[in-house]
Amino acid sequence: MRKRILGAGAAVVLALVMAACGGPDLPEDATGAEIYVQMCARCHGSDLRGGIGVALVGEGATSIDKPESYLVQSIYAGIGSMPAFRRTLSDDQILRVARYIMQQQGR
Ligand code: HEC
Repeated sequence: MRKRILGAGAAVVLALVMAACGGPDLPEDATGAEIYVQMCARCHGSDLRGGIGVALVGEGATSIDKPESYLVQSIYAGIGSMPAFRRTLSDDQILRVARYIMQQQGR
């Protein structure tokens, strides 16, 4: 009995930690644009032109010349002061948001 109560407590704590990380709100099939707005816009700007994070389109956007693998890797593992997203996004979601950026870059 006591054990079961502790188990439930741990599940609640885990749920709270996961909610605090912000990932699980996002449906698995969210589009690249939806993922971008929820996870990236606060640093890279809603227009992708940068803010806390570097510009991904327009002036100073050097990633426009980089391959898809560079974008995927940066998002997956983090780069410089940008956090890694491998725990909050699935591989598919990372690919989708990378392709969304490339589409916004006109390629
Ligand atoms: C906490 C702020 C922050 C968040 C959130 C964030 N980024 Fe970044 N991002 C940065 C910073 C800062 C850099 C530049 C890192 C460096 O090169 O030192 C960067 C770099 C990048 C780069 C490489 C750009 C280049 O020119 O080399 C890509 C691609 C990128 N971010 C995509 C994303 C995507 C997609 C998301 C959402 C899943 C995201 N970022 C979320 C801050 C953030």
